[in-house]
Amino acid sequence: MKRLKPVRLGVIGCGGMGSSHISYFDKVNGLAFTAVADILPAAVKRHTEKHPNLKGFSSGAALMKSGLVDAVLIATPHYDHPVLTRLAFQHGLHVLCEKPVAVTAGEAERTNQAYRKVKGKVVFGVMFNQRTSPAWRKVRQMVTEGWLGEITRVNWIITNWFRSQAYFNSGGWRATWGGEGGGVLINQCPHNLDLFQWFVGMPVEVTAQVALGKYHRIEVEDEVIATMRFKNGATGVFITSTGESPGTNRLEITGDRGRLVTDGGSTIEFIHTEQSVSTFCKTTLERFANVPATRMTIEVPAGAAWGGQHQQVTQNFVNAITQGETLIAPGTEGIHGLELGNAMLMSGLLGKPVKLPTPRGAYAALIRKLAKRSAFKKVVAGGSKGDLATSA
Ligand SMILES: NC(=O)c1ccc[n+]([C@@H]2O[C@H](COP(=O)([O-])OP(=O)(O)OC[C@H]3O[C@@H](n4cnc5c(N)ncnc54)[C@H](O)[C@@H]3O)[C@@H](O)[C@H]2O)c1
Repeated sequence: MKRLKPVRLGVIGCGGMGSSHISYFDKVNGLAFTAVADILPAAVKRHTEKHPNLKGFSSGAALMKSGLVDAVLIATPHYDHPVLTRLAFQHGLHVLCEKPVAVTAGEAERTNQAYRKVKGKVVFGVMFNQRTSPAWRKVRQMVTEGWLGEITRVNWIITNWFRSQAYFNSGGWRATWGGEGGGVLINQCPHNLDLFQWFVGMPVEVTAQVALGKYHRIEVEDEVIATMRFKNGATGVFITSTGESPGTNRLEITGDRGRLVTDGGSTIEFIHTEQSVSTFCKTTLERFANVPATRMTIEVPAGAAWGGQHQQVTQNFVNAITQGETLIAPGTEGIHGLELGNAMLMSGLLGKPVKLPTPRGAYAALIRKLAKRSAFKKVVAGGSKGDLATSA
């Protein structure tokens, strides 16, 4: 898949995030920004006025048919993500999809099935920009290289997603079952849920408490407390909220050879035990001794604590098309964090543990039921209704 010509990219959905992506395109090597589409004519005009050669369209489908693009960046509200992604595959176009890749893991699975038919010809990425953060990359390296030994527990308190009522009032689709398909788990946390599984893999069962509109006048969840069980017996806790200020970002991963703690900033606190905790536990004659250990503070690269983020993911996507570079965040991996979030929401709403993979039909029916009585009625832009389709 080597090509020397620039990749002609079209942006579908140019509100807040779409516009933010457009603002760094001139710094992405090998990218030619050729088209925009939005259902709001004013949003299209804002960009076509600024970029004289840019062509504007009133729908993603029209942009894809135009022949002016090789790739699309999808930055619409969530329900349209899988519909537009699959349509792009049908047109033989590369896709960089904003998170989440869908509202339900079932829809993400359909997208992945559709991708299998075009794999090798088309690149599919997802905007998990936090995978570029040096601290998160280091955590993944430490876990995968076995610095912690076998993982026994992972706790993530990620409550620094505070949002005011004014934020939720600012957009019709936001924080509604019909427009967004959920709350903190589907909007703010996809990055954390993706990283969670990127670090330690997927649990086999999730139990959660979920509060709907506890801190805000919204339909959807704004607080989640989830516990998880992994195949090897390890446990996990994931706590999030959009109602706490100040919030906390504390990731703690414990294993048989130590523990790491970080807030994702410029340092990781690491305690490395001199021997296996489980062996020490079984063999020592001391009754109250702790396992001897070395403490260290791991500095992540100075000045780069935040990483390349969105621009880096977009550059990587272009490089994947032109030079076959490995994707930082393959679109097919978008399903995993979604699976976690779906399981948490389902468990919290039904009041019982949920085994993974989440039951596709039951979860789709649950979301459709909630969307049906939502204040926001989704207007489906062309083609299949994706997550809101009546067949599960
Ligand atoms: N990766 C990140 O850091 C990050 C940050 C913020 C938002 N996002 C994601 O970006 C996406 C967009 O969020 P936003 O905050 O920009 O929302 P927004 O409401 O500001 O913008 C969405 C735009 O899409 C347009 N639109 C809606 N349906 C469309 C359709 N079918 N075809 C074409 N245009 C359509 C709307 O008119 C609007 O201009 C969401 O998936 C969100 O989760 C990602």
